[in-house]
Amino acid sequence: MRVAIIGQGYVGLTIAVGAASAGHSVLGFDVNKGLVAKLNEGASHIEGINDSVLAEFISSHRYSASFEPTDLVGSDVIVIAVPTPLNSERNPDLSYLHAAVDLIKQHVKSPTLIVNESTSYPGTLRKEIAARLTGVDHLFASSPERVDPGNALWGTKNTPRLIGGLSQEAVIKATEFYESFCDTIIEVSSPEVAEAAKIFENTFRQVNIALVNEFAQIADALGISTREVIEAAATKPYGFMPFTPGAGVGGHCIPVDPSYLAHVADQVGIPATFIKRANEVNLGMPAYVVKRVVAGVGGSIAGKSVVVVGVSYKPEIADVRETPAAAVIDLLREQGANVVWHDDLVGTWRGEQSAPLAAHEIAVVVTKHGYVSVDAINASQYVFDCTGTIPGADGI
Ligand SMILES: NC(=O)c1ccc[n+]([C@@H]2O[C@H](COP(=O)([O-])OP(=O)(O)OC[C@H]3O[C@@H](n4cnc5c(N)ncnc54)[C@H](O)[C@@H]3O)[C@@H](O)[C@H]2O)c1
Repeated sequence: MRVAIIGQGYVGLTIAVGAASAGHSVLGFDVNKGLVAKLNEGASHIEGINDSVLAEFISSHRYSASFEPTDLVGSDVIVIAVPTPLNSERNPDLSYLHAAVDLIKQHVKSPTLIVNESTSYPGTLRKEIAARLTGVDHLFASSPERVDPGNALWGTKNTPRLIGGLSQEAVIKATEFYESFCDTIIEVSSPEVAEAAKIFENTFRQVNIALVNEFAQIADALGISTREVIEAAATKPYGFMPFTPGAGVGGHCIPVDPSYLAHVADQVGIPATFIKRANEVNLGMPAYVVKRVVAGVGGSIAGKSVVVVGVSYKPEIADVRETPAAAVIDLLREQGANVVWHDDLVGTWRGEQSAPLAAHEIAVVVTKHGYVSVDAINASQYVFDCTGTIPGADGI
């Protein structure tokens, strides 16, 4: 099939490589011209996709990147994988999705299968995509992406894929496409079910992470080890699933997607109380971490040298979107500390460079990448660990 994928970020490039590996001819479309140029040189910007794999698909003409909308013409399948962030009021921002739909409207005049993989609330495919693309007999399906960047165990191939369509023909065509590179396809009765399943999965994680973050605060006040309690509870063979505390939640999914559900819940008059409370708890974690650090060093961090170790939102990846490290650093600085950060996967961030991991008066570990040595962290006088990976350190 001729496949065009709009958006070549974490999701779009992953799907592009999956589709190319199944023998499809893939066009990776992106508005970011610099990114397009790099991709065409065979340089991947995503952990888990090797440059050599990309280069092989380019040389065998199974993949090319483009910012030319006319290249979308003639596709059998168009997959939309663009950002769906929150605006400044923490409400859904569908502007990227609408821009992608406008591109299709302007340039694609013959019937095409259009699949949305971008995460959004139930009703998006029907009301925000199909309703804007009338006049051509396109087929529409929703297949929300579940990729977990950096996860070595579960990838595009072996993670079951949900498909819901606006017509049975759309479901059949979408299934034909995805089963060429995914092991398990699960058809659901409507695109709304597929869309809702995706945000419910992420809401489940957000709420459970908030629960364990709140529990960590209770356990510390009671003088009990949170992580020992979690390990003990996890010995129950049924009815319990362990989540671990941390400095908050980050990335494009867990801190964002639940607010899409809360948004539609508001519209139908149901208050999404768990989501709102979970947001409060998770967004409050950086302040809790800094409060504990201040208490841990005797009541003041003014003038002290601090290194924040790991600023991406999770280990082994360079993604800093919504990372709680930003608030941790800002709050430490507000209290007068001299803060640098170390994360060689991230390198440059917010106009600052990753500092060498030297001994400081305080080290605060937000994310622990494998390459970072525990001894180098422990060289600092006081270590506060948000990850449970530094033996003997104070932390959550
Ligand atoms: N990152 C994840 O782990 C993950 C997992 C599952 C689902 N999702 C969802 O997938 C969607 C995409 O997320 P991502 O992480 O790949 O985002 P990303 O920011 O990594 O990539 C998005 C890409 O889309 C491009 N883009 C923006 N507007 C465009 C347009 N109008 N036309 C063409 N390209 C455009 C950007 O330049 C960027 O390269 C979001 O809805 C997200 O919630 C993400």
